[in-house]
Amino acid sequence: MLERENVNVIGHVFLLCFVATIYMNSRPACAKYLYLEDVVFERGIIKTRSQPKLSHWHLERSDINFTIRHTMTSPFCRNWKEETAVFAIAWNFPQYGHTLFNFVSNVFATASEFNITKQQLILYVMKTGGYKGPPSAFEVNGRFVAGQYEPILKELCKELLSLKAVLDSPKKFCFRRLVLGLSTSIDHYSLRKKNLKLFRRFAELMKLVYGVVHVDSCVARAIIINRNDRRILNINELASALSSRLHRSSMCVNVTDFSKISIPVQISLMKTTSLLVGIDGTGLINAAFLPYPCGAMIHLRTFGTSTLKPRKGSNFRALALFGAGLYYAWENSDFSSAVFHSQVPRKIIQLLRRGQVSPLQDQTFTSRQKGTTILRQDTNVSISDVLILADRARHEIIRCNASKLLVRNDSPLPLHDTSA
Ligand SMILES: *[C@@H]1O[C@H](CO)[C@@H](O)[C@H](O)[C@H]1NC(C)=O
Ligand SMILES: *[C@@H]1O[C@H](CO)[C@@H](O)[C@H](O)[C@H]1NC(C)=O
Ligand SMILES: *[C@@H]1O[C@H](CO)[C@@H](O)[C@H](O)[C@H]1NC(C)=O
Ligand SMILES: *[C@@H]1O[C@H](CO)[C@@H](O)[C@H](O)[C@H]1NC(C)=O
Ligand SMILES: *[C@@H]1O[C@H](CO)[C@@H](O)[C@H](O)[C@H]1NC(C)=O
Repeated sequence: MLERENVNVIGHVFLLCFVATIYMNSRPACAKYLYLEDVVFERGIIKTRSQPKLSHWHLERSDINFTIRHTMTSPFCRNWKEETAVFAIAWNFPQYGHTLFNFVSNVFATASEFNITKQQLILYVMKTGGYKGPPSAFEVNGRFVAGQYEPILKELCKELLSLKAVLDSPKKFCFRRLVLGLSTSIDHYSLRKKNLKLFRRFAELMKLVYGVVHVDSCVARAIIINRNDRRILNINELASALSSRLHRSSMCVNVTDFSKISIPVQISLMKTTSLLVGIDGTGLINAAFLPYPCGAMIHLRTFGTSTLKPRKGSNFRALALFGAGLYYAWENSDFSSAVFHSQVPRKIIQLLRRGQVSPLQDQTFTSRQKGTTILRQDTNVSISDVLILADRARHEIIRCNASKLLVRNDSPLPLHDTSA
């Protein structure tokens, strides 16, 4: 059954959104930034003419804590920066999913909510989080070096500078307008239907900036994501089954390891992809860049996911609904087709084998142990189950393509969700 529903993805994260207090202007409820005017910043201390009742501000996902002092008049300074400065965290930079949808998307949303044009925005960034990634220097001579993300950030701001350099500096910095933190309206952990338009603008901009590579001659395709740590053991059989099924729609089927291709190639591939199939992982982020609203994602979940962590991967579901339009989920229910890696606690495997992990029992395991169980396994997928979903997806894509011709551009189709 095809369901149409309001997308309200991760309720508990939204609550955090109301913690933030925004001064000077009224802003959308879900924001995690503080806006100040006439700011003199020196060694973590902010002197401002703005009148917030706060004496501290903490930048989310960092241990950066600012002290705020108020003055009645504009503090004295020789060199005011006239552009709007934004102090931002790039959490787990340069990991693809976190960088795009906890950082870059949030810069886009912030600029948009403040109506700041590219020429008026100076972004100060600091990397936080435990993600190591390939070694590289992110902060060089006061700049923040964003590598593959430079093209999109150049679209959004005039300068990309190192926040760490500002925090470590003994100098005084003066900003006419300063935003501490970023809007989370299109963060992948807090997507809400009312922000669909903003999300669409961001996704289209990403495609404009990166989707410029001619990859091959396929004009319609399905991609099965291949990962080497969370493997689909029968991926070749799945690919050939899917290939013969989709042959009628003249779709190519590609088995793709996104970790081995550049961002421009990934996003260019998405422009001709109608169906994305994969297990939890950063590759599913690409669902954000499928041809909306007539693209589909089939989300494959490993054995035990819904018992151990029912909400696991709901960020991917949200991205698929906002980025593709159609979302389907499959979860492995056959214990014997799962291969658990050595890091997975024996005790959990035994309980799963006996079908005994009830929500009550599973409280004896830490969140990390549950996560490890879900993420550290390879799996054979049920080809017949996935083909049923692929058939449904194809059917809906064709129907959607046909109805798109009848729908005016300015009346977006409702979101479809088949996961419930
Ligand atoms: C920031 O500093 C204030 C006052 O020292 C303290 O109450 C608050 O807990 C600190 N926050 C963080 C996240 O360190
Ligand atoms: C941004 O611009 C829009 C349309 O021009 C306007 O309605 C809105 O109030 C502006 N927001 C801010 C924060 O200036
Ligand atoms: C749907 O339309 C898009 C172009 O809008 C096209 O690339 C795709 O192949 C079509 N899909 C199907 C299954 O017809
Ligand atoms: C995708 O698969 C088609 C054949 O189905 C092949 O011609 C094409 O080169 C593949 N593209 C990529 C990017 O792997
Ligand atoms: C996966 O399926 C293949 C046949 O397609 C079979 O040989 C293999 O034993 C299966 N592995 C598991 C863990 O079920």
